[in-house]
Amino acid sequence: MDLLGSIGGQDGSYLCELLLEKGYCVHGILRHRTTADYAPLALSYVLAAAEEFPNKVVLHPGDILDPYFLLRLFRDHSYSEVYHLAAQSHVGTSFDLQLHTSDVNALGTLRLIQTILALRQESKIKFYNACSSEVFGETRDGCQDESTPFRPVSPYAAAKAFSFWVTSSARKAHGLFAVNGILFNHESPRRGLDFVTRKITFGVAQMHVGCTTCITLGNLDARRDWGHAIDYMRGVFAIMMQDVPDDYVIATGETRSVREFVVAACRVVGIELRWRGTGDQEVGVDADTGDIRVRVDPALYRPAEVPFLHGSARKATTRLGWTPQVSFEALVKEMVESDLALVRGRPAKLRTASKL
Ligand code: GDD
Repeated sequence: MDLLGSIGGQDGSYLCELLLEKGYCVHGILRHRTTADYAPLALSYVLAAAEEFPNKVVLHPGDILDPYFLLRLFRDHSYSEVYHLAAQSHVGTSFDLQLHTSDVNALGTLRLIQTILALRQESKIKFYNACSSEVFGETRDGCQDESTPFRPVSPYAAAKAFSFWVTSSARKAHGLFAVNGILFNHESPRRGLDFVTRKITFGVAQMHVGCTTCITLGNLDARRDWGHAIDYMRGVFAIMMQDVPDDYVIATGETRSVREFVVAACRVVGIELRWRGTGDQEVGVDADTGDIRVRVDPALYRPAEVPFLHGSARKATTRLGWTPQVSFEALVKEMVESDLALVRGRPAKLRTASKL
């Protein structure tokens, strides 16, 4: 039996489907607030799976902030694998909600580990911690891998670095099968609307049907290593299937700027962008019509930015046999087409992580 904490976001929903396909019974922590989150599409898949397979998907409304909730959960159920995905996952928001972010992302991880240890369950549980490429922070060039030093620049990344170290410490000090996945950015049609990729693809879809004329973004030159969440959840599962616990980077090995993402998304609906101006005054213009399609708003800049992420998943490829299957272009196309269907009021049948 598996526990997903939490299950209501993009990653939880895909991992739930993957685990069901593998024959698991999946328990998931559903945070009270999840219904108001910006990933309602992901949540709808989880709720549908719970309805269709009531004996295989069990939802536990709760919160990893509450240690007594965790104690009851682990006391009353016998878990063999625990996938800790719960997080305040928005980096920009972490500058405004620093203590909350630390409480969930850093201490939340420790609460889960401490619950396992307090109940003496360390010999029968495998524990996965969702670390993040954000921990690499200020690195400017080269590829980041498992040996790259952490240089967090946001409260989010500092908390994720803490979560990394308490996870590897539980492995070394207590013999818990505890592993970190250092995942680079991973996207999909189920991504929340407050992340830049989905904000762009949803905005492009809205522009295409005439609901809006322009997308407003922050830093266009930030570079990310963007992969597909389904590929990454396969990687997470492979990390947990090893006999020897270890930490792994999961990344595509390609890096692109926000600017390149928006160009690719516009191209899916036949808009070619030309860039005019510089800095805050820069605009992306429709080459055919001259209409402004992209503007920059400095209010969307982060107080401290991670300028460049470019991962090397060589260890995962060598040891786990993991490679990404979905290209950047295919990812962007899938997201735009899904959002086009959404804004037209006819949601497409989307790819799921399993054959459900
Ligand atoms: N969200 C957002 N909104 N980001 C923008 C915008 C905008 O309007 N304009 C530019 N950006 C830039 C951000 O400054 C950042 O450099 C980049 O786009 C990506 O931002 P996000 O999509 O919010 O993702 P993230 O890279 O900060 O964090 C994501 O990936 C991490 C893994 O590296 C999240 O999923 C994290 O939870 C995850 O750990």
